[in-house]
Amino acid sequence: MEVVIVGSDAQAGQVVADAVTQAMAAGARTLGLATGSSPLSAYRELARRHRDDGLSFAALQAFLLDEYVGLTADHPQSYAAVIRAELVDHVDLDVGRVHSPDGAAPDVLAEALRYDELISSTGPIDVQILGIGANGHVGFNEPGSSLASRTRIKTLTEQTRRDNARFFEGGLAQVPRHVITQGLGTIRGARHLVLTVSGEHKAAAIAAAVEGPVSASCPASVLQLHPHVTVVTDEAAASRLRHADYYRYVVEHKLLEQGY
Ligand code: F6R
Repeated sequence: MEVVIVGSDAQAGQVVADAVTQAMAAGARTLGLATGSSPLSAYRELARRHRDDGLSFAALQAFLLDEYVGLTADHPQSYAAVIRAELVDHVDLDVGRVHSPDGAAPDVLAEALRYDELISSTGPIDVQILGIGANGHVGFNEPGSSLASRTRIKTLTEQTRRDNARFFEGGLAQVPRHVITQGLGTIRGARHLVLTVSGEHKAAAIAAAVEGPVSASCPASVLQLHPHVTVVTDEAAASRLRHADYYRYVVEHKLLEQGY
């Protein structure tokens, strides 16, 4: 696991965008996209590279990690709508090739299965961008999730609903209680996992994920079992990492070589 400690949100965005750009140059065809605040600087940087450098996403397909149960794709807080507004509308990624679970499907259990099978038959996902919840969730695999889980329905914890209430006009009462989320086993199927995190409120979660025991109590700790993971963290989120100096030492040499 490579841990990159950065000094700013903009730098985090560059490091994540570099991972995506390098994978695309190496022939990547499938991107995995997270929503929420964490990947926004990366999406801004990818949009800038499209605008200024002609970086093209036309050959790519994309898969979202999750979707709220009960929200249609045109609801402004559905993740399908959020990813259109934050990334797809700013690049040449064909919206028809951006896949997400249908949270308003009449049979959400069948929809979760359909989505998982679509990922398995189209994938593997070349680069999966991830955020992490303050309770250690990735996707919406809340604590207690099976480390081998596939895409399915999960119930959000109250903490996650409160954390996400800031996105909903009506506050907490409007935040759905259930989601369709890629499982931890599904996420682990991606070739390269790139987790981006910022803020002191995530420090305990990222320390548990990177340095704690592999445990369903911190679902993101399953990343330790993956052969290719990059964690991009600001100083505040890195503040509880015991081996931060070592991560800096390793990355300093690599980043110098890359001209940072
Ligand atoms: C969103 C997702 C979640 C978020 C996590 C962090 O698609 O899967 O795991 O990445 O809740 O959210 P932010 O970045 O808003 O703090």
